[in-house]
Amino acid sequence: MPDVVAICGSYRTKSLNRKLCRLAVRELSQAGLSVFEVDLKTLGLPVYDGDVEDASGMPTAAKELRAKIAATPGLLIVSPEYNGSVPGGLKNAIDWLSRGPGNCFDGRVVSINNASNGAFGGARSTIALKQVFSHLGAWVVPGAMNLPKADGAFDEAGELKEEWMKKALAGAMKKFAEGVRGQ
Ligand code: FNR
Repeated sequence: MPDVVAICGSYRTKSLNRKLCRLAVRELSQAGLSVFEVDLKTLGLPVYDGDVEDASGMPTAAKELRAKIAATPGLLIVSPEYNGSVPGGLKNAIDWLSRGPGNCFDGRVVSINNASNGAFGGARSTIALKQVFSHLGAWVVPGAMNLPKADGAFDEAGELKEEWMKKALAGAMKKFAEGVRGQ
């Protein structure tokens, strides 16, 4: 089993959060952690509907991911902010995954990071996600990456342009790795 499951909250192929997620995964790999990356788009989850769940149970892709998360100490989230909160696709996935038996998020160490085009980054989305994961019994690591004005933050090679951004990401992943290792 990996040390960390990484989920990008954007479905977009050219997503800025996907770029940030790749850099975060690289930091974790350099710190010696193994990471399993999830592409929400490929899971093809339907909108959560109790009738669908009653008729056919949890979709297989969600069941497999639920088992993976339950067996992995760390969960890395890198997500945009939509209208001051959590993107619907990510929230929908969390809602499916939270269905029993058991709670796959309970006791997981979670790092919630974001890249958003606004001047404040995705701070409001991070607050909303903290509420969700705290409700689910996860340990949210403080000091995660909040990348504002993300449309101008990456160079052609997908690297962060500014030194402070690189330092902030490295610091956030160091803290997260310590939390995961402490589990
Ligand atoms: C946005 N965007 C946005 N940005 C922000 O800083 N605060 C916000 O509340 C919102 N709201 C919002 C809603 C919707 C529906 C969309 C599509 C976009 C802009 C957002 O930061 C930008 O599109 C990012 O590039 C989205 O992330 P990815 O897909 O590049 O990872």
